[in-house]
Amino acid sequence: MIDRRQLLGALAAPLLTGDSNARAQTIGLGAIAEQAGLLFGSAFDREILTDADDRRLIAREAHIVTTENSLKFDWLRPNGPKADFTIADQLVDFAARNRLKLRGTALIWNDNPPPWLYRLSSIEMRKIFDQHIEETLSRYSGRIHSWDIVNEPFYPPQGLTGGYRKGPWYTAFGDTYIDRAFRRAAAADPKTRLTLNEAFCEQDDALGRSVRANLLALVERLKTDGVPLHAIGLQGHLKPALPFDDHAFVEFLSKLASFGVDLFITELDIDDSAMPDDVAERDRLIARRYRDFLTSVLTVPAVKAVITWQLSDRYSWYADLAARKAPAGRAPRPLPFDRDFKAKAAADAIALAFAGRKA
Ligand code: XIL
Repeated sequence: MIDRRQLLGALAAPLLTGDSNARAQTIGLGAIAEQAGLLFGSAFDREILTDADDRRLIAREAHIVTTENSLKFDWLRPNGPKADFTIADQLVDFAARNRLKLRGTALIWNDNPPPWLYRLSSIEMRKIFDQHIEETLSRYSGRIHSWDIVNEPFYPPQGLTGGYRKGPWYTAFGDTYIDRAFRRAAAADPKTRLTLNEAFCEQDDALGRSVRANLLALVERLKTDGVPLHAIGLQGHLKPALPFDDHAFVEFLSKLASFGVDLFITELDIDDSAMPDDVAERDRLIARRYRDFLTSVLTVPAVKAVITWQLSDRYSWYADLAARKAPAGRAPRPLPFDRDFKAKAAADAIALAFAGRKA
């Protein structure tokens, strides 16, 4: 634990010196969040196995980490039903060695299925569904703070009744795949917090509003039916170019919380693709969006964790996407630390939003 004077001194450092890293050197975001009764951390993955600077950054800033990819079905089982847990085991060990809490994602997701899954009959798909849940959850039982049991259940533009997302698990079971996943996961790891994770809810457009309504109805139904469900994850891939309304989002969070679930912001980052090229200007806009969003969200007491989707711009999925374009796109700056692991204005904005929360 840190004392309040130390905290205020550290937060003032970048204001006095203009150097965000002055704060970062003294005190990490995880420690500042802890003062506000909040867990802060980030996604990480196999890059930590070879990048010591990234390992240091994570150990300094994060109190909780999420495997970005390595526990996903298609990463564990790229070629067929038999899983390879080699990398996942190393990531779980890294978290344990550094005393970081660990989130698993995404156990069951209709997006990104490996092609071999589509060649199975419905009966075979149901079998691998149960096998995947049992094997993966029980392997790490007791070691995972929370698991995204079902990721992104909804995608209304596809036109299914109820707004559900299409994919192999929906094909095999209909929407009961959700109940089945939660019940089986609870049996395989009775300690982990079973989480339902969803995208788009931060957007105040037709898509965001319909996903919010769908999610509220689903949570109510699952709770009524006695399905084990402990937390809701809201991804928080913010896209400031689309309409947003933080007040409406906070109302939605409060409604979710009324069902007795914890809330986690699970994949926070900011899409800067529609922002100006000028780096200083872009960083200022990004920092302001982090500050406003978190300041609103943290007024909801049920919000217990904030996790960014990686810490450094170097490993953002947006950097990957930009690099794959021909010609390569502008380097995105969606995260609190730059490509060289230096704190940016966004890190100060996050620190200030955490410090302003009443614990
Ligand atoms: C993304 C990863 O960041 C990429 O590296 C991968 O290629 C695809 O998945 N919503 C989610 C996350 O639930 O699991 C996604 O992660 C980003 C969008």
